[in-house]
Amino acid sequence: MITKKQFQKIYIESIQNPEKFWADVAETSIEWFKKWDKVFEWKFPSYKWFVGGKLNVAYNCLDRHVKAGLREKTALIYLNENNDRITINYNNLLKQVNKFANGLKSLGVKKGDRVLIYMPLVIEQVVAMLACARIGAIHSVVFAGFSANALRERAEDLKAKVVITASWTMRRGEKKILKSTVREAVKNLEFVKNIIVLNRDKKEINSAEKMEIDFYDLLNNESEICEPEIMNSEDPLFVLYTSGSTGKPKGVVHTAGGFLVYAHYTLKTVFDIKPDDVFWCTADPGWITGHSYVTYGPLSNGLTVVIMEGVPDYPKPDNWYRIIEQEKVNIFYTSPTAIRMFRKYGEGYCKQHDLSSLKILGTVGEPINPEVWKWYHEFIGNKKCPIVDTWWQTETGGHMIVTLPGLLEKPGVAGLPFYGIEAVVVNKSGQEVPTNEKGFLVIKKPWPGALLDCWNTPDRFAKYWNEIGKMFFTGDFAIKDKDGYIQILGRSDDVINVSGHRIGTAEVENALVSFAGVVEAGVISKPDELKGERLKAFLVLKSGVKGDNALISNIKKHVKTKIATIAVPDEIEFVLSLPKTRSGKIMRRVLKAKELGQSISDLTTLED
Ligand code: PRX
Repeated sequence: MITKKQFQKIYIESIQNPEKFWADVAETSIEWFKKWDKVFEWKFPSYKWFVGGKLNVAYNCLDRHVKAGLREKTALIYLNENNDRITINYNNLLKQVNKFANGLKSLGVKKGDRVLIYMPLVIEQVVAMLACARIGAIHSVVFAGFSANALRERAEDLKAKVVITASWTMRRGEKKILKSTVREAVKNLEFVKNIIVLNRDKKEINSAEKMEIDFYDLLNNESEICEPEIMNSEDPLFVLYTSGSTGKPKGVVHTAGGFLVYAHYTLKTVFDIKPDDVFWCTADPGWITGHSYVTYGPLSNGLTVVIMEGVPDYPKPDNWYRIIEQEKVNIFYTSPTAIRMFRKYGEGYCKQHDLSSLKILGTVGEPINPEVWKWYHEFIGNKKCPIVDTWWQTETGGHMIVTLPGLLEKPGVAGLPFYGIEAVVVNKSGQEVPTNEKGFLVIKKPWPGALLDCWNTPDRFAKYWNEIGKMFFTGDFAIKDKDGYIQILGRSDDVINVSGHRIGTAEVENALVSFAGVVEAGVISKPDELKGERLKAFLVLKSGVKGDNALISNIKKHVKTKIATIAVPDEIEFVLSLPKTRSGKIMRRVLKAKELGQSISDLTTLED
């Protein structure tokens, strides 16, 4: 817990002398093989943190804790819908990671090679990520809900050498097969040399496919010792794809040094952690939250981390409460969508469980409605737990705007800029707008967790810093109040936030127009009580094509195959034409205003 005075003092110091501030943080957070020569270097738009510093991320998440006497401490507690429970301590996790890292090496994977991970949230997924980090291979985790097509796109962009997957994952009591999706995704991609499969019941390797290897066959043959690769601070640790305003997802690149320092320090400070805390962040490593606050942040802090494979409300709506009680979870971090769902089920379910172990609650991914915040506070937090609202993005690597525990909470308002972060709300020309006025949220200067680059597309990286006044453009609208608190109002670009997941309208439109019979598509978002926002598509059909329910269902299936279930529009409406600018750009804001019955402010560019 912190007081306003303490917070302000540290904040001012961090802004007045950021290099000293981050150097102190890096020194105390991380074990470096060699200290950096220079804290920060900025050759606009590129920047580097801890230049000349050498480290290994897996070493910082495992070896140093084992050396410090935490061999027997539980690192991960895995749970699933059947209430299976598997735990692994720091020493055994280190051994598994080393064996798997040696296995990857035996397949020829080297520093800088790209490895795709398409797995459920099981211990082996964390092993795979850390093994890559150990040998310096760049991992890219793809959420296991993405289609073969989306996986292939990422494999091609990265020229991935190996794909790691599992035979299946479990959702609502049903097995969802992953292995066949991977086989389809990598067909005829000559640069993919191997598929490593975690066979979860019986060993099933397609013998016709010499490239397939069983996860444990590979791991079990190897030594428990694997010297960590000495990485430069600014070497890439991972690439994570996220949606932008164009039709193609961008590969956000994060570094070993800056990212780890930032994930470690934000987790430690924002959740006010104590060494024996049991930490549960409900995200999946398919998203950035699962990188920073399931894997790298908590493990580098030596915490006990809960992971769960499955959905929140299956087999019963009290599933998560049961886990909090059973594992005595101290810090619980989830999304407003999940809280809205629990609220809908009613507080009866939380009252059946002892949630008194909880000390701090967190939320991430979307604005939280004040009434949902209050429900979270009253029924899950038992009116005693601070709620940390955390605003950040795939690109930022870690928390940027937060309400630290102890500071005044304003339900629905994300909070204050974190240490070292100069967040301002500006107009299009980069001037700060007056208090309580809506504007674009930008960050004045780079911070250690900031993305290094966009894979293969440096122009997309540069765009973040060139959109408004050489500051980092977040893509969000926000307002700042008289106390400096920032409220996030949603995206200012063509990105939609469905259940806390980013979806590019252009990406969905591309998938829709690739369906035979669809000529044009315009996608907008509508408010949704549970998901925050949902998608609606307006489609122009080829003449002669009948817009009936069968067609709607086939179009939905098509989007699922092209991208993922999360990108499937909830509503589809057939129209004769779409509003466009004279240069042919679809005016989504006109579609949206009409759909929501709002007035349309400026129609001067409308063609028809
Ligand atoms: O619009 C903001 C929203 O999620 C976007 C970032 O999405 P993504 O890169 O997928 O990362 C999500 C997890 C960090 C932001 O541009 N967002 C994130 N956190 C919040 C939020 N909106 C309001 N309040 C938040 N706490």
